[in-house]
Amino acid sequence: MAPMSLLTYQDVRPWARSIKAKVSSREMPPWFIDKHVGIQKFKNDPSLTDDEIATMVKWVDDGAPQGNLADMPPPRNFSDLDTWHIKPDVVFKTPKPYILKAQGPDEFVDVTIDPGFKEDVYISAVETKPVEAATFKVIHHATTNLIEDDDDPTGLFLNEYAVGKGADVFPPNSGRLIKAGSKINFNLHLHPDGEQTSVQIAIGLKLFPKGDVPKYVAFHSCPN
Ligand code: HEM
Repeated sequence: MAPMSLLTYQDVRPWARSIKAKVSSREMPPWFIDKHVGIQKFKNDPSLTDDEIATMVKWVDDGAPQGNLADMPPPRNFSDLDTWHIKPDVVFKTPKPYILKAQGPDEFVDVTIDPGFKEDVYISAVETKPVEAATFKVIHHATTNLIEDDDDPTGLFLNEYAVGKGADVFPPNSGRLIKAGSKINFNLHLHPDGEQTSVQIAIGLKLFPKGDVPKYVAFHSCPN
C-alpha cells in the first residue's frame, strides 16, 4: 500500500533521502502513539528505536552504500496470499463473486450471510480475507459485523480485513460469543483499478469445542 516497494537494495536506493526524512521524523513506519506522553509499552510495537533510526540516518549520510553482499541476510519470505494465519474450523464465503467495474467511483457493498449456527458458539480466533488474489488490488477494507437481531442491521463489529492485517487471535481462555441464529454482514469498500475484478471474501473462525465457555468473553473484537 506504500507508494513504492522497499524489498531490495535497488528499490530502496532512490528513496534514501526521503527515508531519512520520514524515519527521523517518525512518520515511518506508521505508529500513531505519541512518544512523549502516556503509555509507551505496547505489544507488537513496530516503531523504531532511537538507535535504529540513528543507524538508518548514518547510512544515508554515508551515501547509502550497498555494503558487502556476503553480509546480506536472505530476503524475507512473505506468506502466500491464500494462506490463513489461523487454522479455521469453519470458513464462510460471500455467496457469489461481486463483479467490480473497471472504472468508476469507490463502491461500498453490503453482503449478509447466514452461517447457520443453531447453537451459541464461542470463537478463539477470526480472520477475514479475499478469496482470489485479484481482489487484493481493489479492496480497501472488508469489515464483518454480527447481526444478532434482524431489527438491528448494523450489528456488532466482529473483524476486519485491510492491507497488512492478519487474524484476530484471542488470548488463552477468552473469546467471542456468536449467538445461535446470528448472521454475518460483510461491508466491502472497493476501489476500481482499471480492470473488471471479481470480488469474493471469506471469513474463517476457530471455534471453542462444543459446550466450552471461555472464562473471558469479549464484547467487541480484541486483536491480540
Ligand atoms: C522502516 C519502514 C518504512 C520506511 C523506511 C518507509 C518509508 C517511506 C517513505 C520514504 C515514504 C514517502 C514516499 C513518497 O514521498 O512518496 C513513505 C510513504 C508511505 N508509507 Fe512508508 N515506510 C516504512 C514502512 C511503512 C509501512 C509498514 C507501511 C504500511 C503499513 C507504510 C505505508 C506508507 C504509505 C501509505 C505511504 C504514503 C503516505 C502518504 O502519501 O501520505 N510504510 N514511506
